[in-house]
Amino acid sequence: MLEGKRILLIVGGGIAAYKCLELIRRLRERGAAVRCILTEAGGQFVTPLSLSALSGDKVYGELFSLTDEAEMGHIQLSRDADLLVVAPATADLLARMAAGLANDLATTALLATDKAVLAAPAMNVRMWWHPATQRNMTRLREDGVAFVGPNEGDMACGEYGPGRMAEPAEILAAIESLLGAGGPLAGRRAIVTSGPTHEPIDPVRYIANRSSGKQGHAIAGALARLGAETVLVSGPTHEPTPRGVRLVPVETAAEMLAACEAALPADIAICAAAVADWRVANAGAGKMKKVEGVLPTLSLVENPDILARLSRRPEGRPALVVGFAAETDDLIGNARAKLTRKGCDWIMANDVGPASGTFGGERNQVHLLTRDGVEDWPAGSKAEIAERLARRIAAALGATPQGGGRP
Ligand code: PMT
Repeated sequence: MLEGKRILLIVGGGIAAYKCLELIRRLRERGAAVRCILTEAGGQFVTPLSLSALSGDKVYGELFSLTDEAEMGHIQLSRDADLLVVAPATADLLARMAAGLANDLATTALLATDKAVLAAPAMNVRMWWHPATQRNMTRLREDGVAFVGPNEGDMACGEYGPGRMAEPAEILAAIESLLGAGGPLAGRRAIVTSGPTHEPIDPVRYIANRSSGKQGHAIAGALARLGAETVLVSGPTHEPTPRGVRLVPVETAAEMLAACEAALPADIAICAAAVADWRVANAGAGKMKKVEGVLPTLSLVENPDILARLSRRPEGRPALVVGFAAETDDLIGNARAKLTRKGCDWIMANDVGPASGTFGGERNQVHLLTRDGVEDWPAGSKAEIAERLARRIAAALGATPQGGGRP
């Protein structure tokens, strides 16, 4: 089911646009709300009236419509949705998306969105195989756009090959999988912290650490795939935002705490970020000058402990709070002490000694500490660890009603 999910459907200009009518009907049958943007070319194939009648909502078309902007700004239009679906995604629309153009309402919404995008390409087979289209597809995949189709078959132009838009049922299945509908964490909300924090010394220098965000980002992606509505609060990283996850980028520990609190209520909180324990109390507003023979003194103050704050909230505490313990010695002993000190439910004991390569690396080895004992997990890729953790959480919360107590 897609109960309560909001889809922004961007209808491009291709003969397959008629299939969108059936898609809207099926989405609404499953409880999704559908709002449409019809491109100028799309308007040659389906009418705003039919889209509006089936979606039960206004159809948007013009970027510079004063009425539309007053009612629903184009930024809000793209942010209000849980998923943007482009169907048919014509060669021209894909090219404009790949180039980051914003020359009509559809491409502006696509550029402004912070939500996942699913595109259903449809075009003539030669246009599909043209190196320019293939280049655009590669670029869009790298940007995190998901695709369904195109299918192979007879085309409206009389040729045969890949280029037919996927059928409404296939697009629907892709939407359900992207939104995690029906997954074991559907209806649950999760907050994940990831990456390092940057604590300024002055406007150009900062204190940081070697966290890449790989582990935290992988966890956010795994939770979203199981259906959790996931907010990823991340310090500066080069990791792509996992599909279906809402990213809140931050720099400092104070910003990370504020973003986590703003993302509440949540059922699950996972603190995988390597938050700087201290920040510079006397950070300069201007660039610190080097004076020959004089060493500057940095005085440090403690940063807020995000994991402890989330764990010890008197009200609105997530049902399951999971921390990481990055240790170089007495792994289990130190992790157990952190579990108690910070008040979280579980802690992932993480060996980050110099030989482990955990910080910044592709692999990890963890031991899960709960109040019941220690589970030694086999070493694996960060994606495997994330997948296992997400499934372990789903199993633990499965026994707890939504909005209920701690597992
Ligand atoms: O990002 P990668 O390169 O993929 O590496 C992954 C990782 C090693 C960073 C990750 O697996 C990990 O271990 N994260 C926790 C790092 C850390 O700061 O551990 P800690 O032992 O110092 O902190 C304990 C816990 O308190 C952590 O959950 C941390 O997020 C949290 N914390 C710490 C300080 C603070 N001010 N606020 C916090 O929330």
